[in-house]
Amino acid sequence: MKRNLCIGLITLTLSSLAIADHPAVEQRQALFEQIDEETEMLEAFVDEENWPATAVLAQKLEQYVATLQTQFPPASKGEGRSDDDVWEQWGEFSGKLTQLETSYQTVHRAASSGNLTLLAEALEAATSSCRSCHMSYRSLW
Ligand code: HEC
Repeated sequence: MKRNLCIGLITLTLSSLAIADHPAVEQRQALFEQIDEETEMLEAFVDEENWPATAVLAQKLEQYVATLQTQFPPASKGEGRSDDDVWEQWGEFSGKLTQLETSYQTVHRAASSGNLTLLAEALEAATSSCRSCHMSYRSLW
């Protein structure tokens, strides 16, 4: 009986903690994790010169970034690892996301058309954007 009460309290505490976080926080973190893993896959496809797989995956990544734009509602400010500047400088932050989306779109188009110079440039732009954005907009803890 006592044990059940204890488990009940723990469950209650855990569920109220979960409710405290805005659902968008988990969604944007999951999307960033996908982007991280799949950008590595994208680089592997490029190394293997597998252009059809590169084109398909780049298009998927482009979609993830487009979805990310909607995962920073004002109610989630101060949660997750996003710095308050995300909301305070939304125009700039959102513009950086758009640039990343455009880079994946260019990788997709260049892989389809066989323009390898353009593809390499766009892939480099995508992968170098991660660190620079994290320095300004992601908290370190
Ligand atoms: C426009 C800015 C921006 C760009 C570009 C960006 N990120 Fe992030 N990233 C963030 C922010 C902000 C968070 C924190 C999200 C939160 O927890 O609220 C984050 C979180 C993450 C996370 C979640 C885990 C963690 O350490 O917080 C991963 C993984 C990640 N990013 C990988 C990447 C990769 C890989 C790229 C490049 C392909 C990238 N990001 C590009 C802003 C960016």
